[in-house]
Amino acid sequence: MNNKPNVVMVGLGYIGLPTAALIASKGINVTGVDIHQHVVDTINKGEIHIVEPDLDGLVHHVVKENYLTASTTPNKADVYLIAVPTPFKGDHEPDISYVSNAIRAILPTISEGALIIIESTSPVGTTEKMEQIILSNRPELKDKIYMAYCPERVLPGNIIYELEHNDRAIGGINVASTKQAIDFYKLFVKGELHETNAKTAEMCKLVENSSRDVQIAFANELSMICDKAEINVWELINLANKHPRVNILQPGTGVGGHCIAVDPWFIVSEFPEDAKIIRTAREINNYKTEWVIEKIKNTALKFELNEGYKPTIACMGLAFKPNIDDLRESPALYVTSNLISDNFKVMPVEPNIEQYPEFKIYKQEEAIEKADIMVFLVGHDEFKNIELNEKHTMLSFVKN
Ligand SMILES: NC(=O)c1ccc[n+]([C@@H]2O[C@H](COP(=O)([O-])OP(=O)(O)OC[C@H]3O[C@@H](n4cnc5c(N)ncnc54)[C@H](O)[C@@H]3O)[C@@H](O)[C@H]2O)c1
Repeated sequence: MNNKPNVVMVGLGYIGLPTAALIASKGINVTGVDIHQHVVDTINKGEIHIVEPDLDGLVHHVVKENYLTASTTPNKADVYLIAVPTPFKGDHEPDISYVSNAIRAILPTISEGALIIIESTSPVGTTEKMEQIILSNRPELKDKIYMAYCPERVLPGNIIYELEHNDRAIGGINVASTKQAIDFYKLFVKGELHETNAKTAEMCKLVENSSRDVQIAFANELSMICDKAEINVWELINLANKHPRVNILQPGTGVGGHCIAVDPWFIVSEFPEDAKIIRTAREINNYKTEWVIEKIKNTALKFELNEGYKPTIACMGLAFKPNIDDLRESPALYVTSNLISDNFKVMPVEPNIEQYPEFKIYKQEEAIEKADIMVFLVGHDEFKNIELNEKHTMLSFVKN
């Protein structure tokens, strides 16, 4: 691998753009490719279309220096990286059509010796399937290209740092591909690079998120058991965690985000008979959100019976986890929307968001003043020291 390869990055979202900019910052020429013209235009102006600390300055710099240019069409490259979305379809089956479209887009430009790396979270076997697509269209490339899978494990909000410093699992379709990919990541990653094969690297990403999901499901199940047993689950977990080898996570409103709530299904859909605990964890975490809705509704109905009027419910937090503005797959948003569509009087509060198209977002102070029932759905820092008065009924599904 020469240390100044030409790179094409396909997909310029939360993963693709920071990665392209980081590579470009090492003096490597990168062409970023995205199907959306406004994404391409924005980047070519040296600006960014996503929210991520420190990214705007970096993109501005590498575009100005001509190391990063964006385009809607790929050009010939030494290394191709694919970071397009991999959502699931309605039946929880992974949708890899974005990845195969990206592969089809680069197909005419691939030449002998090219290295193609998939970074999109993908079901096991995807890299080999993509190789088949390439070879069935370009049989002359058989044994003449390198292909590898390298999953991304960055934390939004800290992407630039983690891209450079996290360890990576890198798996090729053969040993030569793994070696080429390792050499490439060495150009911009300071974390350790762990060699494996493509299937193991694909599974590694899915397993990391499934492991979190299973552990959270345990905590969520405990929270529902403790509710019946009239035991304070937070105190219980705190005590149990005093055991030197026990580390129970905290329960919540459910599990959200585009990774932990999605990736385990990639294992379940492919191994339906075997992935029992992974499927059950997904079901428990989804059920926890329905359970929260029932708790709130029952509390509101009891209030109405006792007080003779419909209570106003403050839903505190909409994001999928504390201290961010990301609403993707958010259980708190789901709970709030459900209460609103069932005609409960709701005041949604989300300190990290100004507006939401489907309902008004209230200021925290106004909600505290006007609400009868305060429901804590997300553990944002802003909610930590709220002083409630006697008139408030309080329901908290997160640790305060
Ligand atoms: N965001 C994260 O924190 C994170 C973390 C780990 C893994 N991942 C995985 O990385 C992948 C990318 O995620 P993301 O968050 O960057 O997605 P994203 O939606 O932010 O960005 C994807 C980009 O790809 C573009 N695109 C779609 N199809 C294309 C095509 N055929 N050609 C060119 N561009 C195309 C879209 O327009 C979009 O700009 C996903 O598989 C995701 O699961 C994301």
